[in-house]
Amino acid sequence: MNSLVLLALLASVVAGKAPRLKFMVHEPPRFHFSRPENYISMYHQEGSDTLYVGGRAVIYVLNFTDSGVHDVQQIHVPSDQTAIDTCKAKAAPLELECDNFITVLQKVNDTFIVCGTNAGSPRCWMLVNDTVLTDVQGGHIASASDISPPYPSQKSISLPADGSLYSAMSVVGGQSGSIRRTFGPQKLLKTENVWLLNPQFAGAAIIPSSEKYKEEIYFFFSEFNQSAKMDEEPFRARIGRVCTVDEGGIMQLLPNSWTTFMKARVMCGAGNTQQQYNNLKQAVVVTAQEQRAGIMYGLFSNAW
Ligand SMILES: *[C@@H]1O[C@H](CO)[C@@H](O)[C@H](O)[C@H]1NC(C)=O
Ligand SMILES: *[C@@H]1O[C@H](CO)[C@@H](O)[C@H](O)[C@H]1NC(C)=O
Ligand SMILES: *[C@@H]1O[C@H](CO)[C@@H](O)[C@H](O)[C@H]1NC(C)=O
Ligand SMILES: *[C@@H]1O[C@H](CO)[C@@H](O)[C@H](O)[C@H]1NC(C)=O
Repeated sequence: MNSLVLLALLASVVAGKAPRLKFMVHEPPRFHFSRPENYISMYHQEGSDTLYVGGRAVIYVLNFTDSGVHDVQQIHVPSDQTAIDTCKAKAAPLELECDNFITVLQKVNDTFIVCGTNAGSPRCWMLVNDTVLTDVQGGHIASASDISPPYPSQKSISLPADGSLYSAMSVVGGQSGSIRRTFGPQKLLKTENVWLLNPQFAGAAIIPSSEKYKEEIYFFFSEFNQSAKMDEEPFRARIGRVCTVDEGGIMQLLPNSWTTFMKARVMCGAGNTQQQYNNLKQAVVVTAQEQRAGIMYGLFSNAW
């Protein structure tokens, strides 16, 4: 009896194989990497058809047109072999991360800054004429390890604003995270370690203003309280800000730290319920042109 039912079911499934509705998906132009790229960074200039994609020891220069995506060129950015050997010997978090993952691709004015993990000992270059990587010139530049993380699984954020580069590094191992000004004509500044509690950065945005002193940079991140009890929420979604005019404290008082840094909790909840989303993973701000109003889109995850 049972097998009869099963047979009948099977027959109907087989009979129903021909779809009743068929439609063709017209996919937008798409580029397929010739090998897996598990961590990527991107740079796109508004209005341009060209997208720069940083991958594993390579920068892809892609041209998007109506007819498709063309791989215009690949700029190879290998690690030093000694860095790879040292990285593997140190038993890095993952041996697979012992390569030069391109983590930063940003244009600061006309200087195209490229940074990579260089197998655990980050390096930065300047991309000239879309072909040559040389040492960075034309401004103060921080140590590469303040701009790029040593391993691609550690999330970092970089944002050019007002002719300078701003970088945020998430906490990892013995290094506490930080928000810094890392390149440009202005003084290079940082957060003090106690200002941030195990931050994991999710995004950043510049809030421009016609009055220079009002121009702010917002950083979105979540903080993790290791001392939180089992029944307490260990994460807090945060917004931090610095002002672009900041030139640091006076000689006797934290001369290399921000004087305009502030942080606040981001309250994002489910309607009128008690529920709050705390573990912010990704944040994007869409601002209206020339306006200080915008919407933040956040991607949150569960604490467990
Ligand atoms: C991108 O493609 C367009 C159309 O084919 C072409 O005119 C343009 O020169 C290409 N750009 C680059 C950088 O190759
Ligand atoms: C970049 O291109 C310009 C103009 O073609 C040339 O003068 C310059 O030497 C190039 N720079 C490098 C680093 O190749
Ligand atoms: C960017 O341009 C501004 C205005 O010309 C200049 O003050 C600043 O030094 C430039 N930044 C870099 C990194 O060259
Ligand atoms: C972390 O959690 C502990 C335990 O609830 C609490 O006492 C402490 O104030 C929290 N730390 C911060 C910075 O919120």
